[in-house]
Amino acid sequence: MSADSTPDHAALADHYATQATAAPASMDAFWMPFTANKQFKASPRLLASASGMYYKTVDGREILDATAGLWCCNAGHSRPRIVEAVKTQIETLDFAPNFSMSSPLPFVLAERLAELAPGNLNHVFYTNSGSESVDSALKMAIAYHRARGEGQRTRLIGREKGYHGVGFGGISVGGLPNNRKWFGLGLPGVDHMRHTLDIGRNAFSKGLPEYGIELAEDLERMVALHDASTIAAVIIEPISGSAGVVIPPDGYLKRIRELCTKHGILLIFDEVITGFGRVGNAFAAQRFDVQPDMITAAKGITNGCVPMGVVMVSDDVHDAFTQGPDNAIDLFHGYTYSGHPLACAAAIATLDTYAEENLFDKAIELGDYWQEGIHSLKGLPNVVDIRNYGLVGAIELAPRAGAPGARAYDAFTHAFHKGSLLTRVTGDVIALSPPLILEKSHIDDIVSRMADSIRETA
Ligand SMILES: Cc1ncc(COP(=O)(O)O)c(C=O)c1O
Repeated sequence: MSADSTPDHAALADHYATQATAAPASMDAFWMPFTANKQFKASPRLLASASGMYYKTVDGREILDATAGLWCCNAGHSRPRIVEAVKTQIETLDFAPNFSMSSPLPFVLAERLAELAPGNLNHVFYTNSGSESVDSALKMAIAYHRARGEGQRTRLIGREKGYHGVGFGGISVGGLPNNRKWFGLGLPGVDHMRHTLDIGRNAFSKGLPEYGIELAEDLERMVALHDASTIAAVIIEPISGSAGVVIPPDGYLKRIRELCTKHGILLIFDEVITGFGRVGNAFAAQRFDVQPDMITAAKGITNGCVPMGVVMVSDDVHDAFTQGPDNAIDLFHGYTYSGHPLACAAAIATLDTYAEENLFDKAIELGDYWQEGIHSLKGLPNVVDIRNYGLVGAIELAPRAGAPGARAYDAFTHAFHKGSLLTRVTGDVIALSPPLILEKSHIDDIVSRMADSIRETA
């Protein structure tokens, strides 16, 4: 088509819709992320469309979504407000730079996010993903101390089993061996506290595990070793998802906050999965009543439909960067797509949808029913632990001898192919995080389909 010919909109829509919903002619070129490519391509799972609680596969099967896509479609799929906002935006302003230039929506959205965020996290920095948010927050933490004249505070403290995305910063503070060991030495000056998963003492805990608050004292161990004056920040997922859903012991996060405050260390909550209603309230920080200095978020911010991440920053951290003359750049950091208008439009409509449908209350309203539902799987073959909080759940299976992860992977593929249920598997843990629009009947379906798959693949 030449640039000045009049497009036939219906024909174009038809062409692109057909392409997007049919099985592709070849699957060779797409190198899929975090995937056993050969295994997947031998038996693909291809989703073609989605609406509400359900996906449809390219061969027309309806799949119940028990993972909100990948922890991101918190309002369910293809929601009307979000669809309208994105369509309207792409027809109005496709792109605008945000380096010394901007457009209205990043400002509108930032005000909305600052209202939602806990306490004084009144400043919003835009990224395109959770990984970029994490790396941005780590850089900000180091630069913050430098701006205040404490440039020696460069150490970053993460935790074993932590997942903070896949940037060099994120894998360095993260604590998942497979994500680290392939990629060299990572950032210097990073240390890790112990994780808090303790199946021996806390198996089948309903909600917050009882044992483990003392693990927060690991931060004192880091301070004793490195000295507080060298530590910039601690980064923690309030609930970790990718490590197989680790719920914090009762009181643990509050104790970490106390110790960070005592030692002048910034506390970053990585809320990429816990943000936007997953555990009740907008953020887990509010549900746990713990005030971090920064929150990293992504995923549910746009309901997963356009890539976007944010770092939400306290007044104190932000203001340290703005002490120079008016013509000085505050922060030498940013992305071409920071505050992309399409992502901002999607996010604003997503926040409208969450508010209109009170979706941040859902994890509290349905929390008990969810808890009892997934704990009813106790006693099925090989189930060694069940964990839950808000609308997050995990079922941990005993690994098969010599084949770690194989049993849960089989349960996951069985659930998809036979049970028409989308779940997520990490190691021998099946993780569940359904869209917040679900009803009790969906919980019943998730539980019974999961039970079948666990039994059939035992
Ligand atoms: C806590 C946490 N941080 C960061 C990330 C990385 O996000 P992204 O995949 O958008 O880069 C994730 C992704 O699951 C996450 O769970």
